[in-house]
Amino acid sequence: MGLGCMRMSGLGGARSSTDEEGIATIQAALEAGINFLNTGDFYGMGHNELLVGRAIKGRRDQALISVKFGALRSPSGQMLGIDVRPNAVKNFAAYSLQRLGVDVIDIYQPGRLDPAVPVEETVGAIADLIKEGKVRYLGLSETGAENIRRAHMVHPVAALEIEYSLGTRFIEKEILPAVRELGIGLVAYGVVGQGLLTGSIGNDLPATDFRRLFPKFDPENLPKNLEKVSVLERMAREKRCTTTQLAIAWVLSRGKDIVPLVGMSRPARVAENLEAFDVSLTKADLDHLERTFALGAIAGERYPAQMSHLAAK
Ligand SMILES: NC(=O)c1ccc[n+]([C@@H]2O[C@H](COP(=O)([O-])OP(=O)(O)OC[C@H]3O[C@@H](n4cnc5c(N)ncnc54)[C@H](OP(=O)(O)O)[C@@H]3O)[C@@H](O)[C@H]2O)c1
Repeated sequence: MGLGCMRMSGLGGARSSTDEEGIATIQAALEAGINFLNTGDFYGMGHNELLVGRAIKGRRDQALISVKFGALRSPSGQMLGIDVRPNAVKNFAAYSLQRLGVDVIDIYQPGRLDPAVPVEETVGAIADLIKEGKVRYLGLSETGAENIRRAHMVHPVAALEIEYSLGTRFIEKEILPAVRELGIGLVAYGVVGQGLLTGSIGNDLPATDFRRLFPKFDPENLPKNLEKVSVLERMAREKRCTTTQLAIAWVLSRGKDIVPLVGMSRPARVAENLEAFDVSLTKADLDHLERTFALGAIAGERYPAQMSHLAAK
C-alpha cells in the first residue's frame, strides 16, 4: 500500500491536516511498513514536498518517493496549465530534490502530459535525469494506452498512476491490459473514491467541501451513489471490517501488480487501512461487488466538465 500525501497540503481545497499530523502520518506509515510515499511538486505549491522531506529526515532509506510535476499554479493555487517541456522537466526536478532534501527521486512522472509536447520529449528528459543519477524510475500518470506505449519505447516505464477503485473501473478496458502486456506496475489512486467508499460521507457534504465540484458528489448524484455504498457497508458489517478496508481489499484482489495508493492525513488511518490485507473476499463476495459496481454504476464523470481534459480515457 502506498501513502497519498496530497490532502496533507491541499489541492484546490482545504488541507486535511496540520503539518504535525501530516508528518506523524508519514512516520506512522513508515513504521508500519508502508514505504511508498506519493507527492507532487504542485501539492500545496511545494509545501507537500517540504513536509515529506521533514518526515523522512534521518530515514531516507525507508522511503520510496514518487513525485509528480508539470502542473502550474498561481500563489493562490489557481490552475495555470502544464509545462512538460524537457528543460522544464529538469528545472522542476532540481527544485524538488532541494525541497525533499534528497539526492535522488525514486519515481518521477509528469502529472499530466501536454498534447502539444511529444511524450518522447517529456520522458526523454526523465531518461536523462535517470542517467545523471537524479531519478531512479520513470513513471506516468493519468494517460492512455497509446502514450504509455510510446513512452515505454523511449525508456522502460516502471509504473502508471491512475484512478482505479470499485467505483471507477474505466481502465479495465484498455489501459490495464496494456500495462500488463508491457510489465508496468499500476499505482491505483482514488481507491476509496476520495472518501465516497469509506462509508463516512453522508448526503450532507458541507457546501465548502471542494469535493462537491466533482460530479459523483454533486447533490443529484450523491444519494444514488451512497445507495451503492450501502451494499459495501452491509458486506463490511458481515465481514467485521470497515467499509474502507473492504474498498481497499477489492483493489488488492485485482492483482499483485497493483499498488493501492490511499490518501490518509492522520496516523490512526494507517493501522485501520493496513488491516485491509487481512480481509478475504470469496468468489460470492466478488460476484456481488461486480454486480453492484459494474462499469458506470457510480453516477457522475470522474472530473468536472471544466477539468475533463485531466482525465485519461
Ligand atoms: N495522478 C493523479 O492524477 C492523482 C490525482 C489525485 C490524487 N492522486 C494521489 O492519490 C492519493 C490518494 O487520492 P485521494 O486522496 O484523492 O483519494 P482516496 O485515497 O480515494 O481518498 C482519500 C480520502 O479518504 C479518506 N480516508 C482514508 N482512509 C479513511 C478511513 N479509514 N476512514 C475514513 N476516511 C478515510 C481520507 O481522509 P483524511 O485525509 O482525513 O485521512 C481522504 O479524505 C493522493 O494523496 C495523491 O497522492 C493522484
